[in-house]
Amino acid sequence: MVNKNISKVLISSLQELPERLGKTFHVGNMELAVFKLSNGTVRAIENRCPHKGGVLSEGIVSGDSVFCPMHDWKICLEDGLVQAPDKGCVKTYSTVIEGEDVFLLIE
Ligand code: FES
Repeated sequence: MVNKNISKVLISSLQELPERLGKTFHVGNMELAVFKLSNGTVRAIENRCPHKGGVLSEGIVSGDSVFCPMHDWKICLEDGLVQAPDKGCVKTYSTVIEGEDVFLLIE
C-alpha cells in the first residue's frame, strides 16, 4: 500500500555530496545533516546532537556512525541512536536515490 502522506523532496545531486563528510540542508523548518557513506548510501539525520546541540554535519564519519564535533558522542546514522556509554537519539529521515538525484522522504 502506498502512503500518500509521504512527500519526496529533492535535496541534492549525488555529486554534490562529499563522501564521508556531512552537509547541512534546510527543508521547511527542519535542519538536516546529510552524509554520503563510502558504500554509496546516503543518510539524513537531525543536525543537532542530543547532548548539547553540537552540529552533527561537522562531525567525523566512521563506518555508519558520526562522532559529534563537540564532545565526541558516537551516533549511528542508520537508526539515530547514541552509542554506549552515552544515551539518546536523533531523528532519522529516509532518503532515496534516483539516478543522480537524492530525495528526502518526509511523512
Ligand atoms: S554536544 Fe554532541 S557530544 Fe556534546
